[in-house]
Amino acid sequence: MKLMVTGGAGFIGSAVVRLAVARGHAVVNVDKLTYAACLDNVAPVAASNLYSFEQADICDRAAMDRILADHRPDAILHLAAESHVDRSIDGPGSFIDTNITGTYSLLEAARSHWTRQGKPDGFRFHHISTDEVYGTLGETGLFTEDSPYAPNSPYSASKAASDHLVRAWHETYGLPVVMTNCSNNYGPYHFPEKLIPVVILNALAGKPIPVYGRGLNVRDWLFVEDHADALLLVCEKGRVGRSYNIGGSNERRNIDLVRTICALLDDRRPTHAPHDRLITFVEDRPGHDLRYAIDATRIRDELGWQPSVTVEEGLARTVDWYLANEDWWRALQARDGVGQRLGKVG
Ligand SMILES: NC(=O)c1ccc[n+]([C@@H]2O[C@H](COP(=O)([O-])OP(=O)(O)OC[C@H]3O[C@@H](n4cnc5c(N)ncnc54)[C@H](O)[C@@H]3O)[C@@H](O)[C@H]2O)c1
Repeated sequence: MKLMVTGGAGFIGSAVVRLAVARGHAVVNVDKLTYAACLDNVAPVAASNLYSFEQADICDRAAMDRILADHRPDAILHLAAESHVDRSIDGPGSFIDTNITGTYSLLEAARSHWTRQGKPDGFRFHHISTDEVYGTLGETGLFTEDSPYAPNSPYSASKAASDHLVRAWHETYGLPVVMTNCSNNYGPYHFPEKLIPVVILNALAGKPIPVYGRGLNVRDWLFVEDHADALLLVCEKGRVGRSYNIGGSNERRNIDLVRTICALLDDRRPTHAPHDRLITFVEDRPGHDLRYAIDATRIRDELGWQPSVTVEEGLARTVDWYLANEDWWRALQARDGVGQRLGKVG
């Protein structure tokens, strides 16, 4: 298959690009290269003749039309987004532009491309979204594909809006779409402003490890390579017009996750051990959802997918990757806003 991946220089998009090329798919990576992008993330496949790169903004309809005409992909995996909740609190405008208007622009370009090709049945527009569109759970229960949308942050609201647009382009224009809503990802190449890299890198430096509130928020953690595997499967075999929830069945309270990482570093880099003494509770994020957890029955029963990496194994692999890739994360730590407390309403 020839795939167009938007956001392929980001965390999850680059995992999709690396896996797709390894499996023999041709890939065009379309990325604006915002602060969150890093082309080193795709260095393992950059020399492959299956891989090409186009620097472009998904909001630029003419650029999307040109790229689709040049590359004629069989499927679009749409991951490009503004993705950091704290940044969405400080500056929601870019989230509205990219996540909503950008998705609209890409949908229209895809519809026009699909129509010009004679509306092939096999074409897919795969929209990649988040479980955060469902809002928060209490102590019990799981998100299913039928859970009502109730987003609480500018980020999740913008993703919810984009989900609705994709659904409407299928219902109204017949565009062959599939959709996925996934829980929190972690793993190699995770941008150093997100929770798990922050914990690893602050602990390594002997700096305070900030934990929002009392660290009681629960997330369902999925190793990024398992997510990439699920995405390629849904793109190839998912039923048109359907959405699939993807999760790791790995619920952890933030504080427990942080302590596990501290213990891994105590073993590997004992200089600042015990690292959990660095844990510092800080003011909570406004609108911070208490708990997310995924019911992944549909993707398991219909497509036979389940995660392959336990959270213990995945965290150990992640910590080892950061220890081995200091040049990568040091360069990104110098970028605007990284390492600062963002997302406090004044
Ligand atoms: N990270 C998670 O835990 C998670 C979980 C579920 C779903 N998702 C979704 O997966 C997708 C990827 O998330 P991520 O964590 O890899 O994000 P990321 O921030 O690491 O990467 C986003 C990429 O999109 C690019 N981009 C941003 N705006 C663009 C634009 N206007 N045009 C073209 N490219 C643009 C950036 O340059 C970057 O390379 C997002 O849609 C996100 O909502 C993420």
